[in-house]
Amino acid sequence: MNLLKKYLNIFKCPNTWEDLHIDWDFLINKSGTFKYKIYDDNFIEILPERPYQVDIKSSWIKDNSFYYGQLNKKINLSLDTSDAWGQFEKFPLWYQIFIKKEIDLIYKYSKNTSKHIAIDISAWVWTYTFELAKQYDLVIHFDLRDKSLVYAHNKAKELWIDNILFVRWDWFNFPFQKNIADLIISIDSFIYYDIKDDIKVINDMYSLLNDKWIIFADFHHSKPIFHNKKIHEYTTKEIFYLKDNIKWKDKKIIRFCSIPTLLLERKIFQNIEKWLGKISCFFVRWVMIVQK
Ligand SMILES: C[S@@+](CC[C@H](N)C(=O)[O-])C[C@H]1O[C@@H](n2cnc3c(N)ncnc32)[C@H](O)[C@@H]1O
Repeated sequence: MNLLKKYLNIFKCPNTWEDLHIDWDFLINKSGTFKYKIYDDNFIEILPERPYQVDIKSSWIKDNSFYYGQLNKKINLSLDTSDAWGQFEKFPLWYQIFIKKEIDLIYKYSKNTSKHIAIDISAWVWTYTFELAKQYDLVIHFDLRDKSLVYAHNKAKELWIDNILFVRWDWFNFPFQKNIADLIISIDSFIYYDIKDDIKVINDMYSLLNDKWIIFADFHHSKPIFHNKKIHEYTTKEIFYLKDNIKWKDKKIIRFCSIPTLLLERKIFQNIEKWLGKISCFFVRWVMIVQK
């Protein structure tokens, strides 16, 4: 039995909330009104017909047009992904060390949960899901970006990893039954939309969790000197505002390690780096853990 058949009952139609069945290369809802492409035994697309309306008025986020752009793209499995952004093997050493630390933290907080289903709601390439696949029966690798998904899917084949389902989807419309996951993570991804949009996603994430659960969300935090205008970097005040506005009770915010910003390629940072040394570009990340 292939992975999709085995776990088909955890999905639902993001447009009508009906169950889905497999019909050749498509997933079809019960009333037959919506169909979703199956690219491979472990690669599907479940995008909603109408996207959730993000708050495009937000002045700080110049990058959420990316979201609308991706929703209209078609996936091509033979896409050239040689330049897919975020390939782990091309990351500098400091970033690989940071990721290792973050994975250790996820394992530390999830050690008492069962290890059945883990979901990464914005998995990008294969940074976290390939590691989680060593411990969980099923890992769901979600993203919207076509190149990242195709790249990660090919990489899993190359490494003979067979317990990851790759799903192209929109995190504003979870295509899931409730109470199915033991761990849900979202790393470094609440950067494109408004705080109220992020709150919606985190609240929705919660409803997917079974009764021994953990959500792990990691946020960009404003640097003391510069602010990246293309994405939304949370200030400390905003992080705590978000925490207070999440409807679930058992949540905590922890300061995670300081890391050099990913924006080092920007000219201004390179100049400052030369002038002050690497340390000037470090900033702190915040992690929110919601746990029973
Ligand atoms: C900065 S990357 C972080 C990736 C990964 N979690 C990491 O830390 O390595 C943010 C990811 O969020 C994805 N994304 C943005 N909006 C999304 C949406 N509405 N639904 C699903 N994924 C989305 C992007 O495609 C991108 O891969």
